[in-house]
Amino acid sequence: MSEITDPRALFVHQLGEALSMERTTLTILKRNEEAAGDPELQRLFGHHREETEGQIRNLESVFSALGEDATGHVCHGMEGMKNEAAELTEKVAPNLRDGALAGGATHVEHYEIATYESLRGQAEAMGEQDVVALLQENLEQEQHTLQEIDRAAQRLVQLTGGRIAS
Ligand SMILES: [Fe+2]
Ligand SMILES: [Fe+2]
Repeated sequence: MSEITDPRALFVHQLGEALSMERTTLTILKRNEEAAGDPELQRLFGHHREETEGQIRNLESVFSALGEDATGHVCHGMEGMKNEAAELTEKVAPNLRDGALAGGATHVEHYEIATYESLRGQAEAMGEQDVVALLQENLEQEQHTLQEIDRAAQRLVQLTGGRIAS
C-alpha cells in the first residue's frame, strides 16, 4: 500500500474505514435482531438497522462531496466486535442472551461515536461544512442509540438478577 502523506488523504482513508465499519455494523444488527428474544430490544436493533442503511448513504454523500470514490477499507475494530458478538451469542444460555446482546451493542455504539467525533473534527479543520453536517447526523444517531440500548441493558440486567455478560 502506498504511503499516506497528506491530511486529506488520511481523512479519505479513514472515511473508507468508517464505510466498512457501518457495513459490518449492519451485519451485527441483523444478527442481533434475529437473536433477540426481548421485543423492545429487537425493535431497537431493527430501527437502528434502518438508520444504519441511511448512515451508509450519508457516508457515500460525503465521498461524493469530496469528489472521491466511495472505497471501503477493512475496519479491524468492528470486525473484532462482530466476531466477539457471534461467539458470545453462541456460548451464552438463552436466559442471558438479551443482556449479552445489549452489552455488546453498547461497545459497538461507543466505537462508532469515537469514529464520528474524530472524523467530524477533521472535517471541521478542513472547512468542509457539508461533510461536517452529514457526519454530525450519523453521530447523533449513534449517541441516541447508545442511550436507548443502555436503558434496555439496565432493564435486562435487573430481569436476570445482575448477571449481564458484557
Ligand atoms: Fe452506525
Ligand atoms: Fe450505531
